[in-house]
Parts: sequence; structure tokens; C-alpha cells
Amino acid sequence: MPATILVGAQWGDEGKGRVADWLAAGSDVVARFGGGDNAGHTVYVGATLYKLHLVPSGILHQRAVCVLGGGTVINPVNLVREMDDLRALGVEITPERLIISTRAHIISPAHIALDKASEKARGADKIGTTLRGIGPAYMDKTGRSGLRMGQMLDVEAFAEALYAHIETANAALLRDGCETIDPQASAEAYVDAAARLRPYLRDTTRYLNERLHDGARVLCEGAQGTMLDIDHGDYPFVTSSSPTSGGALTGLGFGPLYVDRVVGVTKCFSTRVGSGPLPTELSGALGDRLRGTGAHFWDEFGTTTGRPRRCGWMDTVMLRYAAQVNGFSEIVMTKLDVLSGFDTIQIATAYELDGGVIDYMPMTTAEQNRVKPVYETVAGWREDIGGARQWNDLPAAARVYIDRVAALCATPINTVSVGPERDQLVHRQ
Ligand code: GDP
Ligand code: IMO
Ligand code: MG
Repeated sequence: MPATILVGAQWGDEGKGRVADWLAAGSDVVARFGGGDNAGHTVYVGATLYKLHLVPSGILHQRAVCVLGGGTVINPVNLVREMDDLRALGVEITPERLIISTRAHIISPAHIALDKASEKARGADKIGTTLRGIGPAYMDKTGRSGLRMGQMLDVEAFAEALYAHIETANAALLRDGCETIDPQASAEAYVDAAARLRPYLRDTTRYLNERLHDGARVLCEGAQGTMLDIDHGDYPFVTSSSPTSGGALTGLGFGPLYVDRVVGVTKCFSTRVGSGPLPTELSGALGDRLRGTGAHFWDEFGTTTGRPRRCGWMDTVMLRYAAQVNGFSEIVMTKLDVLSGFDTIQIATAYELDGGVIDYMPMTTAEQNRVKPVYETVAGWREDIGGARQWNDLPAAARVYIDRVAALCATPINTVSVGPERDQLVHRQ
């Protein structure tokens, strides 16, 4: 059975891009199934740093055909820019290598303005969105008033529909005292982008089912993370899509019997960008130490927004929950090199909640906000592990740490990364 689903196990930015780059090497097709350019997936190859927002990481592998599935939301102007930026780095992008679903929904300038207006109106309770218009685009989708990429096939009708959509949104923006959008200028920019993207539009559902039927290996590249899932995350501090493994099937349109591998990606500690619970969050020197100063591109500052990420210790209550929600067959652990140099490392194994101890995710976000982690302390290691390539090259304490996290989640961890470069991956023999 040929499909692998790769998802973020935490709050996003787990290193999915670099893990997708590894798995893409053995894949015929790499498909994004949800989210939009709120994602920022970093892949570092040789001396080149690729920051992918919508284009699947498989584009860096000559053999893979990349797909943007129907569950994604696409800002056509930003997508065209990203494709041009990748071409400038020498990446070949043609309609043979990238195909875009006619069912994917469009993010308009009005969605971006509405995202900003909604965040402003929430004040201190803001979600901390990426301001890419994601929420309003998915709201129009579920409200059955969205624009789909397939509408671009008929230029005149598309321009009219976009114009009308922006005029409707302008009424709402005016009501909220926000600046309105120029429908004419937007329609022109989007019609230009549509002309560029039209050759890439296809029925990706039919394409994927035909390829799967013929035995092609398909990698479903998740964006965001389990705790940002609209259903399973810390609602309302979530994104508006389903980044969990179920979302891969609805976002791409094939059945579960094709899936034989579900890979969860976790950092060896926790990070979150935006509002919402982060039970193991560390303020002060320890948090700063995990975040880094920003001197390295891999330090904990958002790939899409540049915001500093909140940092804390590994939370296995959350990771166990993620393993259940997604049905992980394995977990890949990233950024192990960042934990070098600690005398001891903490792992949250349970939560204290209202005087009791629980070892599962509480039912409500309000409770999740009140939990205090219960920690187990393990020994750290001092060695620089960036050069490790064999499991036995890892210090004994690092192997104990990996095995303890795997045992606490009842899920194997057979691959870890020890640096951002393509070859800085270590597999258990
Ligand atoms: P994604 O959204 O899940 O693809 O993750 P991001 O790309 O937003 O953030 C992960 C960051 O960690 C990127 O800068 C990666 O280059 C970097 N990274 C990934 N794996 C490792 C690793 O093993 N060590 C270090 N130091 N950095 C890593
Ligand atoms: P990748 O794919 C980290 C977060 C935002 C905010 C919430 C809602 O790089 O892991 P949105 O703009 O989606 O409405 O914001 O979700 N968020 C991410 N955090 N990585 C991402 O993507 C994210 N995509 C959205 O910070 O808290
Ligand atoms: Mg990211």
C-alpha cells in the first residue's frame, strides 16, 4: 500500500519540511492536503536555504510530482511569487511537476483584511494568526460562498466573481471601521496570477487515485500541527483546517486503505507561535536557551512571520494524544542537537489539574490552560552531536532520552535529526 502521511505532532514548525524532504526521495508524488501559505517549511540543501509556504517540499526532488490538493487554500498571487522565487534558486517548476486542484479554495485580499480585522477586534484574546487570510477563506468555504481555483478557468466569470466577493467583504470591513479593498486592482492582480496558474490546474483527486491504483508512492505532506487542528487542537487557538492524518484523506480525496505509514514529526522540545496553552512553557534563561538568539536560521523564530516562538520542555501527555489522534506508526524527532549542553532534561509525563494528576489531554481548553506539568528528570549530554550519522554515534544519554519519549508515547522513534542539513539524519540500525 503506497501512501505515507506525514504530520506535525505538536504546534507546528516541528521540522516537517526537512522530514518531508527525506521521505520525498522515495516518493513519486508529494501532496499538500491542507492549510495555505501560513505554513513555512524550511529545507536546507548544500548551501541553499529553501523556505516553502505552499509548494510541497518534494519539488526539490526531480522525480516527484507535487500536488496542491483540494483541502488547501491558495493565495494565487503569493503562489506565483513563491514559484518564481524557487525558480530563481534553480528549481524547475512546470505543469508536469506541480499540479493544483480545481477544488482548492482561493484566499483573496479581502480574506487577509478580514483576518486582520478579526484579530484586532479580539484584542488581548487574539489567536495570533499568521494574517494570511486563512480563517476567513475557510469560513467562506464552509459557508458555501468561497471561490475555488477551478473558477480561474473562465477568466471573465472569475473576475466578476472576485469583484463581487470583494464588494461583499468591503461592506463587512466598513461596518468594522476597517479600510476597504480596491476591487478593480485586486481583480487585475488575480486575473494575472490566474493566467500564470491555469496550466497547472487539474483534477488532483482523479490524478492521485490513478497513481495510487498503479502503485505510485504518495507522500502527504502535512502543514501546521496536531494541536492547531480545528477539531483536535486547543480551540479557538487553532488554525481553520485539519492538519491531522484524517485531513490528508479529505484534503486529497482517496481512501484510508491506501495508507500504510503515518509519520509524526516532533521536536525534542516544545514550541508554539501564537496564543493558546503551552503547558511546559519556560520563561527566562531556559526558554531563551531553547529558542536561540536568532543568529542561526534554525533558531526559534517563525519561518512565515519572524515572530519569536514560545519554548518549553517535551510534553509527552500531548504527544501521546497526538499519537492517538493521528495513529502514528512512527515518530521522527528533530533538533536533537539543540538539547546538547544541558546537565539535566525534563520530560512532562502527566499533568496536575485541580488537585489531581491526569496522564491524558483534558477535555477543554480552559482545563488545558490550568494544567501544571509533572516532570521526570533525565540526564543530559554535553557532546556536539551534529556529526552523528550512526545510532551509536549518539551519546548514551541522548539514546536514553529518545527511548524514554518513545516508551511514554508507545510509538517507535527510529529517526532523529541532529542539524538542519539534508544528511544530518540518524536512523536506528
Ligand atoms: P516545519 O514548519 O515543520 O517544516 O518547520 P520549520 O521549517 O518552520 O522550522 C523548523 C526549523 O528547524 C527550520 O529552521 C529547520 O531548518 C530547522 N531544523 C530542522 N531539523 C533540525 C535539526 O535537527 N537541528 C537544527 N538545529 N535545526 C533543525
Ligand atoms: P507550519 O506548517 C506554526 C498558527 C498561528 C496561530 C494559529 C492560527 O510551518 O508548521 P492561522 O494563520 O493559521 O489562522 O493561525 O496557527 N500557525 C502555525 N504555527 N507553524 C505553522 O505552519 C502554522 N500555521 C498556523 O501562529 O497560532
Ligand atoms: Mg514552519
